[in-house]
Amino acid sequence: MNRIRCDRTPAWGQLQAAYEATGHAFDVNRAFATDPARFAAFSQSAPHVFADLSKNRIDATTEALLLELAQQTGLVAHRDAMFAGEAVNSTERRPVMHWLLRTPPLDPAMPTQSVHRHMAETLHEVHLTLDAMLAYAERMRADEHITDIVNIGIGGSDLGPQMAVQALDAFVHPGKRFHFVSNVDGHELNAVLRKVKPASTLFLVASKTFTTIETMTNAQSAKAWFEANGGTDVARHFAALTTNVKAAQVFGIDTTFGFWDWVGGRYSIWSAIGLPLAMAIGARRFREFLAGGHAMDQHFRNAPMAQNLPVRLGLLDVWYRNFHGFTSRSVAPYHCALKRYPAYLQQLEMESNGKRVDADGAALPYGTAPVIWGEPGTNGQHAYFQMLHQGTDVVPMEFVAVKTPRHDLPGHHRLLLANVLAQAQALMQGQSDVGGHKHFTGNRPSTFLLLDELSPASLGALIALQEHRVFVSGSVWGINSFDQWGVELGKVLARQVETLLGNGDNTGLDGSTAGLLARLRA
Ligand code: F6P
Repeated sequence: MNRIRCDRTPAWGQLQAAYEATGHAFDVNRAFATDPARFAAFSQSAPHVFADLSKNRIDATTEALLLELAQQTGLVAHRDAMFAGEAVNSTERRPVMHWLLRTPPLDPAMPTQSVHRHMAETLHEVHLTLDAMLAYAERMRADEHITDIVNIGIGGSDLGPQMAVQALDAFVHPGKRFHFVSNVDGHELNAVLRKVKPASTLFLVASKTFTTIETMTNAQSAKAWFEANGGTDVARHFAALTTNVKAAQVFGIDTTFGFWDWVGGRYSIWSAIGLPLAMAIGARRFREFLAGGHAMDQHFRNAPMAQNLPVRLGLLDVWYRNFHGFTSRSVAPYHCALKRYPAYLQQLEMESNGKRVDADGAALPYGTAPVIWGEPGTNGQHAYFQMLHQGTDVVPMEFVAVKTPRHDLPGHHRLLLANVLAQAQALMQGQSDVGGHKHFTGNRPSTFLLLDELSPASLGALIALQEHRVFVSGSVWGINSFDQWGVELGKVLARQVETLLGNGDNTGLDGSTAGLLARLRA
């Protein structure tokens, strides 16, 4: 597989020239005024998602150059290498195959399949595990004695299931309550334990590695609480979701649903880590969720580059980050059930593409992952949107709206939709006929993602779209989007500092840490 770094391609220089010539002054309002076909050219459908990119600072020439860039960096070969099971996670020498978790089983009657032949065995294992996990989910759903499910996990072992269980609240089993404990801060576990009873609670210990200190500490404390409060039958009340089945057994958990090291933590919602979601929405709907993700995989693999939504979004991210110099992207889901969607995307983008070296370890002369942040609308409008409209920095926005709500308060939904449309409009149009404090420059870019409804299938497609978009920009940037070495140093130091907090020894510590340590021990 031949990856060429973006800054070493002819297209990179051409994009720089295009930015300097016209790109920097590109005016979206003028572009609409002169091109009646702009909406059609810069919007498109993908499975379950309609996307309007037309309010972005982009034209046909720039998009063509960006597609050239993708071609010259070897994006297609890189994408195909991922789907062929090659070790695209080069620093950890692992394939990247979360997409296989949402691939339907092979149909013996069909000679052409969407997976390479050598993966047939693995796909078979995937489905055996999925079937077992879904059968367990159904058993627990039917078990009226279990009313509370507590997921103990952090990062990808928390954000995905938590975001999805909230997002699909309309489909959640009415007899079950779901709790998520991620932080090692004892307040969080304590607050949940106050609400539940051992006899009616199922703890899911979710950890790919089964070594993460926060999760292990919370799991030990949950088990101690369970036993101290009359809980019997740990085997029935604890299950583990992990690639490290051995460690789960040592912990004393018999019921384990495994997955594989080729599933990155932030890509693991499709694996056993999705068990809380399966319990919440049931097996049939969990399969619809997988099918939505798979439909987006097929789109990413087969749609022509110019009509390939993850490709267009990922390339736009590169255009904004590296040529316009925008350093963040704000995400505003206009659906309150998507409350954790910005946090989920934060890990997906920033842990994947927050890298300062290329896949060979050489320092990069250009920026990579933007900062991802946001809140659901309309709340954000009454908090930080002031800065988005009139601040000194331009922050590209990404709206998500849902056409059909699942409540019967139609007036609310009309108002919600009116607001999301109006915000995108206001950012673009601005208000130039007044000066001073009331002046809005406008020309502030936004992307609009529209779902017909928020369902298991559309959520699956939306998440897979975001995964692939992160792949595209990471691929063009020449980085490995699938490792996360940057989280290691803090973990090592925390272990050392924990000892020092115990013994007070501050020899060799920097002045600040020594000062704080002394105050904490006083
Ligand atoms: O420390 C970062 C990280 O490794 C994430 O990538 C991961 O999602 C999270 O920790 C949790 O890891 P695990 O599932 O192994 O407990």
